[in-house]
Amino acid sequence: MTNNSQDNREQIEYWDGEAGQGWAERNAQMEKTLGPIGEEAIKAAAVRAGEAVLDIGCGCADTSLALLHSTGPAGRVLGVDISGPMLEVAQSKVQTLPDNIRRAITFQQTDASIHNFEESAFDVMFSRFGVMFFADPAGAFANIRRALKPGGRLAFICWAPVAGNEWITVPMSAALQHLPKPEPMPPNAPGPFGLSDPEFVDRALSLAGYSNISIASYQPTMRFGHGMESERIGDFFIEAGPVSRLLKDAPPELVETTRSAIREAVMPYYDGETVNLAASCWIVTASNS
Ligand SMILES: C[S@@+](CC[C@H](N)C(=O)[O-])C[C@H]1O[C@@H](n2cnc3c(N)ncnc32)[C@H](O)[C@@H]1O
Repeated sequence: MTNNSQDNREQIEYWDGEAGQGWAERNAQMEKTLGPIGEEAIKAAAVRAGEAVLDIGCGCADTSLALLHSTGPAGRVLGVDISGPMLEVAQSKVQTLPDNIRRAITFQQTDASIHNFEESAFDVMFSRFGVMFFADPAGAFANIRRALKPGGRLAFICWAPVAGNEWITVPMSAALQHLPKPEPMPPNAPGPFGLSDPEFVDRALSLAGYSNISIASYQPTMRFGHGMESERIGDFFIEAGPVSRLLKDAPPELVETTRSAIREAVMPYYDGETVNLAASCWIVTASNS
């Protein structure tokens, strides 16, 4: 880490620890689910050849590489993330690129909310589900804006409220038949749903100095369990995401009971290949002008 970010300490421990390790190990599977829905945000960013792009919370770099495809070797992409394990996967992916392309992409392990970025250096700031974890969103987006050129663009995708996200509500309701209900998160708390309130997002971005703010609803279907046997089709929800957090210290029998309950709950959404659940997101764009 290149700085000391006390306020985001919990998130840093989470992503730089077991959770990041889990994401790194499941990157290929995760990408089959997240890749298609992230494309909508990549389209919104409308990156052009020669542009400089900052990918916030770049994780294992799948979006950084897609953005690099648009910038070409005449542009550049900087991926930043707080997760060492995920950045290791990111680094390994760029090793095989031709030299001139590899030189155009770099990664840095740092907290984007307070990192001292080079000023007015980027045309675009992009993120796929990587900007909902800031303790102080307005402060973080203001910090990121300083790295944008005048007229630079911001484009990110984040989750809309839980109620519209079957990929949470279906497995979670099944799990909660067997597990104690977690304390509700305070509104706008850092976490997957930290930017789910569009009024809060609009206020944070306005305070941070952005203009032309647009928050558009995007409701794709998420496909889980590509290539998995139907017997194991509920496992994704046990091993990653919010249910996995509830099972962290659970005894093995309880994990198995929860696994069966989730499998039963998601089977009606199984089409023989994947479990298909509704998602609800915001595609947020704004500019530094
Ligand atoms: C849900 S994952 C998404 C990863 C990646 N963008 C993707 O779509 O596969 C959230 C990512 O945001 C990163 N992250 C969270 N807070 C961050 C911060 N303050 N600065 C940089 N990265 C952060 C996490 O480490 C994690 O890689």
